[in-house]
Amino acid sequence: MAHPAEVFIEGWRIERRVAEMAREIGERYRGGRPVVIPLLRGAFVFAADLVRAMGTDLSVEFLGASSYGESTSSSGEVRLTLDTELPLAGRHVLLVEDIVDTGLTLAYIQKLISSRSPASLSTVVLLDKKARRKVEVDVTWTGFEIPDRFVFGYGLDGPDGLYRNLRDIMALPEEMQDR
Ligand code: IMP
Repeated sequence: MAHPAEVFIEGWRIERRVAEMAREIGERYRGGRPVVIPLLRGAFVFAADLVRAMGTDLSVEFLGASSYGESTSSSGEVRLTLDTELPLAGRHVLLVEDIVDTGLTLAYIQKLISSRSPASLSTVVLLDKKARRKVEVDVTWTGFEIPDRFVFGYGLDGPDGLYRNLRDIMALPEEMQDR
């Protein structure tokens, strides 16, 4: 790897936690045929592991949101880059997100989905940087609570747009965070 970084959460720990959450979430939706919506791009790896371990019939739609630009800290602006194709009215929706930071992205997306009259809306996030929250958001399941570090890998965007394909979650050295 061309950038200095340390392993923050090892792949085997992520795998174990995702399997645990998938069991719980699968139970919750048994027979309910949820629509699982990974928020692109960051949630694509997490969602792929999660849906395959849920053990229940489900469908998948995608939403794309962008809030970051080139910086490692949120701009606070959310832009919809991809929308769902099938109607969500009357469906049980499970929104899948990689990380909640300020909460602005999730708040925006939850409001958008709610406006489409789903039967229910739950949210699962892999990582939660609680200390950075600017707006309250409803998160139903959380993988790991983490401190304020810039992390990447396992689907999350890294320096120069690289490293989403890593099995581990890495962290930049603290002195390289630009906030
Ligand atoms: P929020 O709107 O501030 O909660 O930011 C959430 C979005 O920012 C997530 O969807 C991530 O894509 C991105 N994000 C926040 N923190 C990190 C990080 O440490 N690494 C990579 N992406 C991050």
